[in-house]
Amino acid sequence: MQTLDAIPALREALAAHRRAGRTIGLVPTMGNLHDGHLALVAEARRRADVVVATIFVNPMQFGPDEDLDAYPRTLAEDRARLEAAGCDLLFAPDPATIYPRGLDAQTRVSVPEVSEGLCGASRPGHFDGVATVVTMLFHLVQPDLACFGEKDYQQLAVIRRLVADLHLPIEIVGVPIVRDADGLALSSRNGYLDADQRARAPALHATLRVLREALQAGEPVAATLETGRARLREAGFAPDYLELRAADLGPVGETTRDAVLLAAARLGPTRLIDNLSLTLPR
Ligand code: PAF
Repeated sequence: MQTLDAIPALREALAAHRRAGRTIGLVPTMGNLHDGHLALVAEARRRADVVVATIFVNPMQFGPDEDLDAYPRTLAEDRARLEAAGCDLLFAPDPATIYPRGLDAQTRVSVPEVSEGLCGASRPGHFDGVATVVTMLFHLVQPDLACFGEKDYQQLAVIRRLVADLHLPIEIVGVPIVRDADGLALSSRNGYLDADQRARAPALHATLRVLREALQAGEPVAATLETGRARLREAGFAPDYLELRAADLGPVGETTRDAVLLAAARLGPTRLIDNLSLTLPR
């Protein structure tokens, strides 16, 4: 596996693959890779001739009081895992390579509507940071397809919308959530949990499952969600949001069938997110 940190070298390496007629699959990450990331690499490996992963802890998507400095940086271990997973090229640039004029002077990409509410409400500017860096990575790599995890459901919706709005010829592939045996969705932030919090953390997924069953049985939405919030508080979480949306993140109406439960909640200082798709009864 080739590892590059400079843009000219990246462009040169990719041009050679394109001249040879190879398709390119992109897996953007912030590193500290776990099996959820490796599922993205495996999906890209199945679909494309060349797999390019990126590792970049993107400062633009972190709020001033968030965990940019604490975010785990584990490049050596990540390289080994990517290589074992069959990745062909890793692009791991510095912030100065991506944002040479600094964040304040940087052109930004903003995706309206779908970036609002949910994580967009509690993390102002977060999705502008994601959309900006992902657009940049799309331009640098020019992939045929790119794989993103469904755990970040709103992020995936934002990226799908930006690709549609900017007419980018890139197929966006959503990859199912990978969970630990107890149901906790894999996340680099799970490493922040102490033993007691780790033992409580599966309650997030368990709550979504209970709510899904109730909603599919026709229980009223508002009361069911309130029960879910209470259940999360009992398990030691401070819920940020717990919402039912249509699968496209629009509001749920009389005719909505494909829907998704989305939750974000804090366990101590750690913010966890999860979601569960469901079919609402007629
Ligand atoms: O999901 C992530 O790891 C990040 O938000 C992404 C898509 C790599 C952009 O920095």
